[in-house]
Amino acid sequence: MAVSDIGDTKLALDDEIPWAPMGPDPDGGVDIKILRVDEANDRIVFLNRFQPGFTAIKHRHVGAVNAYTIQGRWHYLEYDWVSGPGDYVYEEPDSVHTLQALPDNTEPTVVFFVVEGGLDVYDDDDNIMLTVDVPMFEDMYRQGIEALGLPYPDKILRE
Ligand SMILES: [Fe+2]
Repeated sequence: MAVSDIGDTKLALDDEIPWAPMGPDPDGGVDIKILRVDEANDRIVFLNRFQPGFTAIKHRHVGAVNAYTIQGRWHYLEYDWVSGPGDYVYEEPDSVHTLQALPDNTEPTVVFFVVEGGLDVYDDDDNIMLTVDVPMFEDMYRQGIEALGLPYPDKILRE
């Protein structure tokens, strides 16, 4: 391959993709900013922002998860580590966890995620109550954008 045969590069500008609550509840304690949607490979790239003490619903990922903590501290109730700024977390496919931003955090926690595949969401009895695929995941962002009264951003990178 010649050095001139190069692939494309794309830039998602910070101020062209807004933060929005994840879902219709603006006070749910978690915001999301989707950077890239790769439906062909069932992959989504996004940022989450968790308020101190926010606890997500327990879920299982079908594929792998890569996470990089930019700000704040978070953990999974099922594991004994805490991730802080600069830490990288890799999760094998089929990982099950309940994410929590530490209650004594003094600032929101911001994490960059690359998630492959969908996820199964569990109820309190560990029964699967919902399976979320990449389009459904993006729908939660869309609901948040609508709740803010903003136009849906057209600068999300897509394959
Ligand atoms: Fe997860």
